[in-house]
Amino acid sequence: MTATQPNIHDLLARRRPGHALEQPFYTSAEIYQLDLENIWYREWLYAIPACQLARAGSYVTLKIGDYNVIIVKGRDGEIRGFHNSCRHRGSIVCKAREGQVAKLVCPYHSWTYDLDGRLVWADKMNADFDPSQHGLRSVHLREVGGLVYICLAGNPPNFETFAQKAAPYLDVHDLGDAKVAYTSSIIEKGNWKLVWENNRECYHCSANHPSLCRSFPLDPEMSGIMPDGSVSEKLQAHFDRCTAAGAPAQFYLGEHGQFRLTRAPLEGDAVSYTMDGKVAVQKNLGRVPFADAGPLMVFHYPTTWNHFLPDHSLTFRVMPISPTETEVTTTWLVHKDAVEGVDYDLKRLTEVWIATNDEDREVVETNQLGVSTPAFVPGPYSDYWESGVIQFVDWYADAMERALGPSRMAAE
Ligand code: FES
Ligand code: FE
Repeated sequence: MTATQPNIHDLLARRRPGHALEQPFYTSAEIYQLDLENIWYREWLYAIPACQLARAGSYVTLKIGDYNVIIVKGRDGEIRGFHNSCRHRGSIVCKAREGQVAKLVCPYHSWTYDLDGRLVWADKMNADFDPSQHGLRSVHLREVGGLVYICLAGNPPNFETFAQKAAPYLDVHDLGDAKVAYTSSIIEKGNWKLVWENNRECYHCSANHPSLCRSFPLDPEMSGIMPDGSVSEKLQAHFDRCTAAGAPAQFYLGEHGQFRLTRAPLEGDAVSYTMDGKVAVQKNLGRVPFADAGPLMVFHYPTTWNHFLPDHSLTFRVMPISPTETEVTTTWLVHKDAVEGVDYDLKRLTEVWIATNDEDREVVETNQLGVSTPAFVPGPYSDYWESGVIQFVDWYADAMERALGPSRMAAE
């Protein structure tokens, strides 16, 4: 780094709590690389809803920084993760973003792997070649409540705490009975942290989200985390009502603030994210006991926020592409027996969040342009309206400090 670019340890040490991060966190290639190494290559990452892999041989590929991963469903019904790099000379094995295969065949010299990663065919190799030593390298993979998470680290951090806490909240949504109704992937020309900061507040909603505001309340209690940890009487009554009826709802913030679970009511009479606030799908996905339970909102840093509604579910996946580009993938899930054109209209189901995502892309890109100017000075967050942003930035800074470690910090 040059004299005018302080290193990340200095930047973290001098960070002003309650303020935006300094410019290099949003623009620097060095810090982007450190984000990848210390967060994205270490933490559990949300990948896909399990139902996206409909049958044996269904696969998706994911690019996470320099890593390339295949997630594939085996003939035994198990979903597995593998590094998408052939054990011969390293070619990518699956080039498409998703597909359906009988076996995984490398396009270079046709080495062929079974769906469980075993190498089952490699022609013309030496007599002493041992196929059993050349299976695809596996990637840690876990499922919770119908959601697939992966971890690139050799020794993944604890997943059980999140899984055990989230499972009862997710159970009532029956994601095992879901199918993908629609997926959208957009690229936002902004750093991944700006995408998250934008997601974690609704301070911007009234000025930017006319469609979403028909159903999503502006109340910061919905998207934020109250600085004193308090919950209003009205919201507590909602938690209690849902929980008593079998749909866990109580706000819960996980260790280090990495994940949050809460089920909160929508605006007024709204029951779903539609232009009129009425249901989007006639055949419910799940067993939420009443239509006005609102969304179960789950975030898990750094990859995902989700809204599980009584009639359908939405998952969002964040993936960094470069210091100033982030992919946001949204997946709409409906009951597997719901029929398009009969039980739901695809436009009605998707239009609010397609518009909202595009509006968020616009504000994130505009934010990125502004923080990229040499004149940018980090400004203060509102404790009330931006409590969720403060919580995200604190999580990020703490996670980086924990990962970088005191010894390394002292040595540099
Ligand atoms: Fe895959 Fe040669 S690199 S078969
Ligand atoms: Fe937004």
